[in-house]
Amino acid sequence: MTSKAERTYDIILWGATGFTGRLVAEQLARRCGVGKDLRWALAGRSAEKLAAVRNGLTSIDSGARELPLLLGDSTDRASLDAIVSSARTVVSTVGPYALHGRSLVASCVENGTDYCDLTGETHFVRAMIDAHHVRGRETGARIVHCCGFDSIPSDLGVLVLQTFAREQYGKPLDEVKFFMGEASGGLSGGTAASALNVFAEASHDPAIRRILANPYALDPDRSERGPDGPDPMGVGWNEDLRAWTGPFLMAAINTRIVRRSNALLGYPWGKDFRYSEVASFGPGAKGWLRAASFTAGFAGFAAFASLGPTRALLAKSLPAPGEGPSQERRERGFFVVRLVGKGTGTKGEPITLFAEIRAQGDPGYGATAKMLSEAALCLSKDDLQVAGGVLTPASCMGQRLVDRLRKVGMTFDLRG
Ligand SMILES: NC(=O)c1ccc[n+]([C@@H]2O[C@H](COP(=O)([O-])OP(=O)(O)OC[C@H]3O[C@@H](n4cnc5c(N)ncnc54)[C@H](OP(=O)(O)O)[C@@H]3O)[C@@H](O)[C@H]2O)c1
Repeated sequence: MTSKAERTYDIILWGATGFTGRLVAEQLARRCGVGKDLRWALAGRSAEKLAAVRNGLTSIDSGARELPLLLGDSTDRASLDAIVSSARTVVSTVGPYALHGRSLVASCVENGTDYCDLTGETHFVRAMIDAHHVRGRETGARIVHCCGFDSIPSDLGVLVLQTFAREQYGKPLDEVKFFMGEASGGLSGGTAASALNVFAEASHDPAIRRILANPYALDPDRSERGPDGPDPMGVGWNEDLRAWTGPFLMAAINTRIVRRSNALLGYPWGKDFRYSEVASFGPGAKGWLRAASFTAGFAGFAAFASLGPTRALLAKSLPAPGEGPSQERRERGFFVVRLVGKGTGTKGEPITLFAEIRAQGDPGYGATAKMLSEAALCLSKDDLQVAGGVLTPASCMGQRLVDRLRKVGMTFDLRG
């Protein structure tokens, strides 16, 4: 195995031809240029499509015409090994990851190559932990799933809030609640396919259903239990934000990643730390109505997606692979996430701390392309001093990634 320092490329973008892959390629070109500080390449399974993506990048940086193109296929392990062994870091936008991502992660682990992706598929992450965490520690490969809108705002938001609490009060907060606030964005074909594939795989396999139902499914030791129960599924009221709330789809992955971070970091937030996620809809009758209709829609979506025939109907109404929100919609997009933390102060008095995370750009695409690109740059360029294994954004990159994201416009604001 060649050492990471001797690899030809700092970053290889695997899946550059997909909807999100193209956005990540554009972001890397804008952020780092081509042939300058970053040695990077585009990879995928179609030479023609890769050349078209590269051509599009020349409007951002004329040097892009020199960008190397590497060919492989998820079903051909030798082609993956050839790509992976030439990179310090591989960033993958090829999904559904449960269908197309397993061999790539295995190859990264065996080649000691760092890796990050955009999966939100809890059972896939669990499978990668079981198959590769121990081996990754041996080879030094740092495998970091969920480096997009799922689960960076959650994972780094909790890190920032808990770090602040520990600095101010000498101890962590007992509980943090995440509220998905105002947002505007769309959906791409790969995201729709990935979400529906989770329902399809769960409907055939009781072991997957057990993983999805377990709030601690991604903890290193699955037999260990903390105080958290199932994700909230009904309409609720939060007095701190004075807002009605409803279920948040991505809680199913985000909360598990946050709990895994706590465990991998050695429980700095305590073994009794409580964490949950909901969507918030504002006060009054209008807020209640929005929360109630969203909750009903959520239940309807889950029911439709769980059954084969209705899932097929749903798939027809959602974007196809390669499709996604228009440039105008992505640029108009934004998100606001709020976290409320509760604990006790230095004299035992109750305290409440607030964090607000904001970014411009469609959460799943514009903002996600920035989050994933910065995660890849952080893995490749920053001196992280973290051992290998299947890690999380907070446990692997932590404050370094927060600092990077602030530089590209994401805000993490705190108040007591
Ligand atoms: N967490 C988040 O916030 C977030 C946000 C956005 C997306 N995502 C996830 O990112 C993934 C991609 O979504 P997307 O909408 O960008 O998907 P997409 O447009 O359908 O792109 C999929 C990519 O995978 C490639 N691919 C498919 N099968 C392959 C194979 N056998 N070998 C090599 N490459 C293969 C495709 O190549 P071709 O072009 O040659 O077909 C394409 O580059 C999904 O899993 C989605 O859930 C997550």
